[in-house]
Amino acid sequence: MITLYRNARLIDALGERYGDLCTEDGIITSCAPLCWQRADRVIDMRRNALMPAFIDMHCHLRDPGFPEKETMETGMRATLKGGYAHLIAMANTDPVMATPQLISTNHEKANRLKLCHLTQAAAAGEALGDALPTDRASLSRLTKVLSNDGKAIFSDEFMRNLLLDSGKYGFLISTHAQPERKIVERDINLLREVGGNLHIGHISRAETVEMIRRAKEEGLTLTCEVTPHHLFGWDSGYKVNPPLRTRADVEALIAGIIDGTIDCLATDHAPHTPADKAGGAAGISNIEHAFQVYLKVFQDNGIPLTRLSEMLSRNPAKRLRLKAGLFLPGYAANVTELSVEEESEIDSLMMISRSHNTPFHGRKVMGCVLRTIIDGETRYEYSKVV
Ligand code: DOR
Repeated sequence: MITLYRNARLIDALGERYGDLCTEDGIITSCAPLCWQRADRVIDMRRNALMPAFIDMHCHLRDPGFPEKETMETGMRATLKGGYAHLIAMANTDPVMATPQLISTNHEKANRLKLCHLTQAAAAGEALGDALPTDRASLSRLTKVLSNDGKAIFSDEFMRNLLLDSGKYGFLISTHAQPERKIVERDINLLREVGGNLHIGHISRAETVEMIRRAKEEGLTLTCEVTPHHLFGWDSGYKVNPPLRTRADVEALIAGIIDGTIDCLATDHAPHTPADKAGGAAGISNIEHAFQVYLKVFQDNGIPLTRLSEMLSRNPAKRLRLKAGLFLPGYAANVTELSVEEESEIDSLMMISRSHNTPFHGRKVMGCVLRTIIDGETRYEYSKVV
């Protein structure tokens, strides 16, 4: 099946131009004008923006174990509404994702659902602890990411071995740094000592940005991510982990986005029931609005859309070694059609995630996801739901 997306404003990390995009059997084949007759299907984009669909380095699907908060299906439908094509789902499910069997079951379930792509993260330690390591040799044959997210790794010895194993088996470690300064400082020191593949999850503080900046200047290879709420919700009083910080921290995060210290824009989508929130659960149901929040922050700070695309798609794809995240022949035909010029407003009543825990209801943001195309197939269309 050859599809021609005509008359689009194509935006990726490499630049921006008006033109056509052609896909065949789930792969981009050309970004140049193509004669109409060769296409099985022609879709007029009416000069709307197209970006490579987003890749989330950090979300919680709660499957198995917490269907009252989210299931893989409800989470993935919300994901498509948010313009995302690929998720890393964290391991704090019930049971915890600590065995190859559990990882395979979730990957098979995602394949059957045929909504978006899933990398199911495995736990680095049994029960998300830092006493007993999981079977990393076996797990890394099934997933590219290991993480104890939700829990910090306090044992230096455990972290040292985890970094060594990440080099040996090729997986990425996504960390939860709380207390942030102590854990990030320790992890950078261990990285310098033994190497490995380190990605620092949801950073929130000015001093963390500075530590990571210095580590990169020194030549260490590491990546990190930020969340919508640590940029946009600092004054909302909402409970999240790590906590919301100060205006000065937000400014440092934005400086880190501008100068390349921060690599990825994650969601940390963390659905919870009203009862769990009332009981003190940390987290925001974020994936439906992440793009609109990020677009607002980028626009308010004069950061170009090409950098937005790099952080939402290209950098996560690079870190996960996926041929995705750019409009180039041979890359995955995962594409998001967007409105990027208009102001919009977040309405938590319109959310399709099973959980509506957000501090952003009524907040003015920017843009809208109009369509999400995965492997060349339209899997979400705004016009069909409103
Ligand atoms: O706010 C958060 N919620 N931060 C985390 O790291 C975990 C997450 C959750 O699982 O609810």
